[in-house]
Amino acid sequence: MTGKAAADTAGRPTVAIVGCGRIARVHAANLAPHARLAFTSRRPESARALAARFSGEALAGFEEAVERPDIAAVAICSPLEHHAAQTVAALEAAKSVLVEKPMAQSRAEVEAIGQALIGRPPGSLTVAENYLYKPSLDRLRAWLPDIGPLRRVRVSKLTRQQPSDWRAEHGALLEGGIHFVALLGAIAGAEPEAVRADFPGGGEPERHAHLELEYPSGTRAEVRYGWDTPSLPGGILQHSFVEGEDGRLVFESNGLYLWSRAWSGFRLRAGPFADLMGFGAMARDFLRSVRNPALRPRSDFETARRDLEIVFRAYDTR
Ligand SMILES: NC(=O)c1ccc[n+]([C@@H]2O[C@H](COP(=O)([O-])OP(=O)(O)OC[C@H]3O[C@@H](n4cnc5c(N)ncnc54)[C@H](OP(=O)(O)O)[C@@H]3O)[C@@H](O)[C@H]2O)c1
Repeated sequence: MTGKAAADTAGRPTVAIVGCGRIARVHAANLAPHARLAFTSRRPESARALAARFSGEALAGFEEAVERPDIAAVAICSPLEHHAAQTVAALEAAKSVLVEKPMAQSRAEVEAIGQALIGRPPGSLTVAENYLYKPSLDRLRAWLPDIGPLRRVRVSKLTRQQPSDWRAEHGALLEGGIHFVALLGAIAGAEPEAVRADFPGGGEPERHAHLELEYPSGTRAEVRYGWDTPSLPGGILQHSFVEGEDGRLVFESNGLYLWSRAWSGFRLRAGPFADLMGFGAMARDFLRSVRNPALRPRSDFETARRDLEIVFRAYDTR
């Protein structure tokens, strides 16, 4: 234990990044202008490399991140199988937590995180669901009133991926499709009444998922997500749509452009391209909750719980 304060003289909190791989570099780049960074990973050399790159500190291990009082927050960027245990440990040490998506791999793990949050302020946990922070989602939601009451939504992305690392152990729907389930949740809102699922190609863990959902309002929705389909790089130029009683919105599934055809006319907009993936907005929202834990982040536990429950209901149908 040290006697250091949880923020420096410039008021910047210290954030410990746990797991120093691909996404850790993205979070470090977005957090570095506003926070002091510390790093820990399975291999000390991974932590040392990012510490050198972002003028931060390499920690001795995860325990140091949760035990040191000068560390205000922890950003969990490890593989999925570690998310829940590390999140619970960090919350129990009264740290603010950013956990990568999906926050958990089972209902029991979701429950454990929920238990650890009891009695803690609403800003204690941000789930790194960057699709909720994409500027293209804000534009889409601003245009929704043009098309009237929602009737049908389809979100879709089919790519070719053959994971050879820890991802090979997890289903495509849970590991990657969760982004599109979250996107659908942000458009359709409520919890669905019915979830039907089909896993084309079979196999467990699945490499392709097709979900059909029905909402209490009568809105129907589909999620199509796969790692088994040849595509353009990044799965670009695939389309999703939202249909209402008065018109239709069509968007490039990554958010590259959006058009609407409604009684009010036709509109087409590209982008916005600044912070296309929403990581910058997400980092700012997280740090807002770190500084003032009374502020609930846009991507909170309840939103992530609702989205994961759709994934688990889809798996229940197997
Ligand atoms: N929001 C998004 O768009 C997005 C994009 C990509 C990934 N992600 C999510 O971010 C997480 C990490 O993905 P990634 O692509 O960054 O994977 P990655 O490149 O494999 O990095 C994971 C890192 O965690 C380290 N690690 C492994 N076990 C650990 C443990 N027990 N404690 C601490 N660190 C451990 C690894 O080890 P070493 O120390 O051996 O290097 C590796 O550096 C996943 O949940 C993934 O779904 C989200």
